[in-house]
Amino acid sequence: MRSARTTRPVSDRGRLADAQWWRQAVVYQIYPRSFADSDGNGLGDLAGVISRIPYLASLGIDAVWLSPFYPSALADGGYDVDDYRDVDPRLGTLADFDEMTARLHARRIKVIVDIVPNHTSNRHAWFRAALAAPKGSPARNRYIFRDGLGPDGAQPPSDWASMFGGPVWTRVPDGQWYLHLFTTEQPDLNWDNREVRDDFLKTLRFWSDRGVDGFRVDVAHGLAKNLAEPLASLPVGGDITDGSLPPGTHPLWDRDEVHDIYAEWRQVFNEYDPPRAGVAEAWVHPSRRPKYASPDGLGQAFNFDLLEANWNAGEFLRVITDNLADAQRQGSSMTWVLSNHDVVRHATRYGLPPEEHRGHPNARNWLLSGGTSLRLERGLGLRRARAAVLLVLALPGSAYLYQGEELGLHEVPDIPFDLVQDPAYARSQGAEKGRDGCRVPLPWTSGGPSFGFGAGPAHLPQPAWFGAVSVQAQDRDPASTLTLYRQALGWRHKLQTAESMDWMPGTNGQVLHFARPGGWRCVTNFGPGPVPLPNGTVILTSVPFEGSQLPADTTAWLLST
Ligand code: GLC
Repeated sequence: MRSARTTRPVSDRGRLADAQWWRQAVVYQIYPRSFADSDGNGLGDLAGVISRIPYLASLGIDAVWLSPFYPSALADGGYDVDDYRDVDPRLGTLADFDEMTARLHARRIKVIVDIVPNHTSNRHAWFRAALAAPKGSPARNRYIFRDGLGPDGAQPPSDWASMFGGPVWTRVPDGQWYLHLFTTEQPDLNWDNREVRDDFLKTLRFWSDRGVDGFRVDVAHGLAKNLAEPLASLPVGGDITDGSLPPGTHPLWDRDEVHDIYAEWRQVFNEYDPPRAGVAEAWVHPSRRPKYASPDGLGQAFNFDLLEANWNAGEFLRVITDNLADAQRQGSSMTWVLSNHDVVRHATRYGLPPEEHRGHPNARNWLLSGGTSLRLERGLGLRRARAAVLLVLALPGSAYLYQGEELGLHEVPDIPFDLVQDPAYARSQGAEKGRDGCRVPLPWTSGGPSFGFGAGPAHLPQPAWFGAVSVQAQDRDPASTLTLYRQALGWRHKLQTAESMDWMPGTNGQVLHFARPGGWRCVTNFGPGPVPLPNGTVILTSVPFEGSQLPADTTAWLLST
């Protein structure tokens, strides 16, 4: 077995550097079923990823994170896992996975896989065993089964709502109910059960032994639950970040006990050289994030504050300042995320009217209307997205990019309702269109049956405008968004230094200007009018301009002279 738990002869300094690779890495998220389809079945696959490694290398990224590629009925885009230690046959084999990892490593690209510990799929061998076993059996105790309320137990054990709408409880034929925070097809595991914990340690070793460098931990804040009866009603909304419950007291989310689980995971990570990395997807109050990112825990946690922020200097300033302070407190590095597979793409968000509430309600309503309820300023959104990514890539810490953002892709709002795949649409009874619009397969070429994604049509319909923004259309265009990403990542590699920054004079309600050690500076004008460009040698700008004024919605990178 390659890359097993062995000690390699590296110097202490080298080892330290290697162990810390994730701190300032640029990680590119691949949503495998929508990346590249090698066999023409409409679904992206691992051979498709392998075929695009030259492209990934040309971007200059440090790592890829693959969303789930495990066997799955795709009730939730693969986040319903049938088997944690295998590859979906439609996506390939374990041998393909090994080949992909080896080839990525040969190009110095690390591999992060997604682990989904809160729930299995309802097709997982354990859940099938639980259904076949009687009430009170060890097989049921791997999940969360309860008797219902009322004389015949026909009422669910509590009135809790699931994340995608509908109740969190589903009844099985013998009358018991099981808990699922997400869809019916995603039964929650019982993390009080030692067998569940041990099985995940086995999964972490399974992939680590295959050379995986790190893990993105899905719904990391959900595993520990307090289900002591009676199961009281929860505050309306009950959002753990909305302050309606004191931090740490929600029965389902972000409980202190969850960190015991990650302390065990950390021990497994540290069996390897370099230690495997972890990044938590934890939608928690900012004050609670450091624990997930602690060196004794997963090591890093996504900070989604920037993904929630409007294109506004004040909001960006606050998020960056808070993030810096957090990072200093927790000893982790900062994480920056503008888009992922769960949210409306940021080029689109920045071209719609600003949001007044978290969760992008404007953008989601616009999606539901098929892209008609609000006017999308496509050009402006893209211009801001280009300015935003230069700002983010100049910040200390690691940046997580989502596939297609390097093409400046906009969200696809007009997927016909009968082709929608996201369970959020059906479970919310049509109140949400869901997340398919950012998961439409990538356009690689300007024409062809699925714009080069595969030999046949893609599993989600691609709009006609994809051709003009394809990789082929942008590859050699010096003004394209793809070229901008490549240039930015190239410069970043050369200029990256210690994880610190200083705000520069000129930072105000319209302009953010900061310096990194070594003379690298970044200045962004959030608009509305031009501002004087600070002194220095301009090395990269988000859009071309001439003269000494920095236009609105533009970022420039400078070197101090
Ligand atoms: C995470 C994933 C999301 C998925 C959910 C349930 O939030 O990012 O795509 O639907 O977990 O697994």
